[in-house]
Amino acid sequence: MEPIRWQETSLSLLDQRKLPLQVIWNDYTDYRDIISAIRTLEVRGAPSIGVAAAYAFCLAGLEFQNKPNFAANMKKAKEELAASRPTAVNLFWALDRMERCLDKNGAEPSCVPALIQEAKELDRENLEMNRAMSRYGAETVPMKAHILTHCNAGPIATGGIGTALGVIIEAFEQGKVEMVYVDETRPLLQGSRLTAWELQQHGVPATLICDNMAATLMNQGKIDQVLLGCDRMAANGDFANKIGTYSVAVNAHYHGVPFYTVLPSSTIDLTIADGSGIVVEQRDPQEVRTMYGVQTAPTDIPVYNPAFDVTPHKLLTGAITEKGVVYNPYKENLAKLFG
Ligand code: MRU
Repeated sequence: MEPIRWQETSLSLLDQRKLPLQVIWNDYTDYRDIISAIRTLEVRGAPSIGVAAAYAFCLAGLEFQNKPNFAANMKKAKEELAASRPTAVNLFWALDRMERCLDKNGAEPSCVPALIQEAKELDRENLEMNRAMSRYGAETVPMKAHILTHCNAGPIATGGIGTALGVIIEAFEQGKVEMVYVDETRPLLQGSRLTAWELQQHGVPATLICDNMAATLMNQGKIDQVLLGCDRMAANGDFANKIGTYSVAVNAHYHGVPFYTVLPSSTIDLTIADGSGIVVEQRDPQEVRTMYGVQTAPTDIPVYNPAFDVTPHKLLTGAITEKGVVYNPYKENLAKLFG
């Protein structure tokens, strides 16, 4: 299911906060509403955030095309959109690309159709990258595989078939996948609410586990491979992904389980030398004190709530991209393919 639909003068978003209990689409014409949708995770997942931001920039173009100071208003809209979430680099990648298109077309109101064309092209390329990653990634999956995944890197997070889930679905269609273990992914349950739902929709056998059960499964020899997504990869291969990814990586390393991340080139940030340069979003303490609105902790207990963590590249078996699987030395190999 695609999470984002451009309707020529409005943008429809699948409300990912309501899944899997309700499938609700919301229509927006104001780019400021897309900022709030990104912040509140109505639209989420690194590639989907990039696509939504590109279309939001088009909404800003439609709003400002009949007003004075078009160029200045568009620059301001870009800054506001860029401030919505800090970690997934796809947001900045998409907005920079839209700004280049704006500048190339004279930053005048007449450039709005070109902006819309550019956003559609970015959306289309995103789908193609998903397909290529799935094909390359499926080659790494052994027969009768039992796979562990964390968070949600499926169609709704990416706008295509998915990054990590794209690989899993492709490998399943090739007859290679026996079971996918899905980390529930506290605090916001992207695993249980979204990944479990998407795997069911594709008929892939899936078992839901709490995050703290993964090490036990590995110790029992029940996991053959870990496949998960990425929000930003630095030049040396260190990468940010949903909080909990780092402990999955440490556990996989200890138990000798191959550990892969799946990411399009729009998630690679060669301007950052290593993971220490990645800004990790800190979110509302209430997300930890509650479980979907139900309080599960003392009202005033102090909370630590980073939305992401950074996994060092030395724990990575390989990075599956649309140009093939990248292995160590990541610094050299990422620069060769994407520099
Ligand atoms: O906070 P979220 O739900 O946007 O975080 C999403 C993830 O961490 C995903 O694993 C990620 O974006 C990578 S693949 C789409």
